[in-house]
Amino acid sequence: MKKNDYITAIIENIGANGEGIFHFDGATCFVPFVLIGEKIKAKVLKVKGSIAFCKVIEIIEPSNSRVMPKCPVFTKCGGCNIQHADYKTQLEIKKETVSTCLKKIARIDYRVGEVVPSEKEYGYRNKLQLPIRLEKGVVKLGFFREGSHDIIEIDDCPLHPDWAKTIISCVKEFIKENDISCYDENTKKGLLKHLVVREVDGSLLITLVASSVKINAINRLIDKLLLYFNDFSLIINENPKHTNVIFGDKFVTVYGSGKISVSEFGVSYEIGAESFMQVNSKQKKNLYKKVLSLCELDDNTVVIDGYSGAGVLTAILAKNAKKAYGVEIIQEAVDSANNLAKTNGLEDKMISYSGDCAEILPSLIEKCKSEGQKTVLVLDPPRKGVDEKIINQILISKPDKIVYVSCSPQSLARDLGLILGTLKRENNAIINLYPDVLNYDITYLTPYDMFPQSKHVESLVCLECKTN
Ligand SMILES: C[S@@+](CC[C@H](N)C(=O)[O-])C[C@H]1O[C@@H](n2cnc3c(N)ncnc32)[C@H](O)[C@@H]1O
Repeated sequence: MKKNDYITAIIENIGANGEGIFHFDGATCFVPFVLIGEKIKAKVLKVKGSIAFCKVIEIIEPSNSRVMPKCPVFTKCGGCNIQHADYKTQLEIKKETVSTCLKKIARIDYRVGEVVPSEKEYGYRNKLQLPIRLEKGVVKLGFFREGSHDIIEIDDCPLHPDWAKTIISCVKEFIKENDISCYDENTKKGLLKHLVVREVDGSLLITLVASSVKINAINRLIDKLLLYFNDFSLIINENPKHTNVIFGDKFVTVYGSGKISVSEFGVSYEIGAESFMQVNSKQKKNLYKKVLSLCELDDNTVVIDGYSGAGVLTAILAKNAKKAYGVEIIQEAVDSANNLAKTNGLEDKMISYSGDCAEILPSLIEKCKSEGQKTVLVLDPPRKGVDEKIINQILISKPDKIVYVSCSPQSLARDLGLILGTLKRENNAIINLYPDVLNYDITYLTPYDMFPQSKHVESLVCLECKTN
């Protein structure tokens, strides 16, 4: 098999990136946007040893699970990978991904729970983020094509509620009618760079990122938005730098309060244009509710919340425990967490540390356990998973319970293997072990579908220590 060959194949499996897998001529071949059992004609794009990357040319025999994608730019914008599968199949793909990673990476043969579905399959995202660019003299507002800075223009994105279409249309009209300049990546000149929208329970924070806060006729945009929305803020963020970082330091609110007040699980907090928020609000509530119930907190239990973000979950845990410690690397998020502790009267129960979990968590786990306290460790790391220093300390101090929220089945499998004892790090490599008894029992392992239509899968795991 070589580049530019055309081959006919039947899809055998779906990989962790949502792509189809088949074998041909001794090679494992990957092809996106297909489903198991489909007979396809594919073109070979690249061969690397015994791996080939292909593009689908024709679906000769489609699967019964194939549906018409809602989005006209599906396959182009890079945001969704499995919009061509019906929702039941999407959930099956995600469950299988988690299960396969556990088996292949860590030899953990656990019956993964059914994926908790998202209430909405489309229209679930509470955050819209679109670059605005001038390309060859034409203003474009849309998503970057995957792996490039070319804009795929859009009028709507079906992953967002209806407000997205309306706001995109208002901003496009405002730019056109008032001849507002937009950023050109080649000349590094132009005013408007990004449109970012956050929404909570119908309240909207609409932010225009621009190279200067002075945008002509901005009242005309406010008037346009007022025709459709009564609860919104319009904010201008000044970012004169030529980098991939979206926001600059200066925010000016030109309409509304510039914040959204939220109350959930008895904790009140404010969302700003920059605050981190899970993108699927309903599913986030389901996840936090389950985290809280798995922790089984009481007045005698301390909880350590590693990778704690702006501290909302830490505060929810603190309300139900003797004490909660949050650890987060981004200083602004720690400031928000401290503010949240103050406004909710939790200063004595909620302590937030600013810094790297790898440096802070081991001593914190050691301290809580050596004081003889019942200790629950919550971990919600980024995609790369938990640092080895933390795993080493877990193996020494053995917190009573670990509740792990993961956005990467691969790093989750590795970390679970290391914690349970089916894997071990030796001389910078990870080796298999065959222990008679595992260090922890898995008492819950269920994926949550936070991101329908995309390959991404969130998992929630609870581990209980056997030897305490
Ligand atoms: C998946 S988010 C979890 C946020 C939070 N638990 C929530 O539900 O809102 C991961 C968080 O870990 C933080 N982070 C990433 N690397 C870190 C590190 N080495 N030490 C501490 N925090 C880190 C990120 O800034 C981010 O806030």
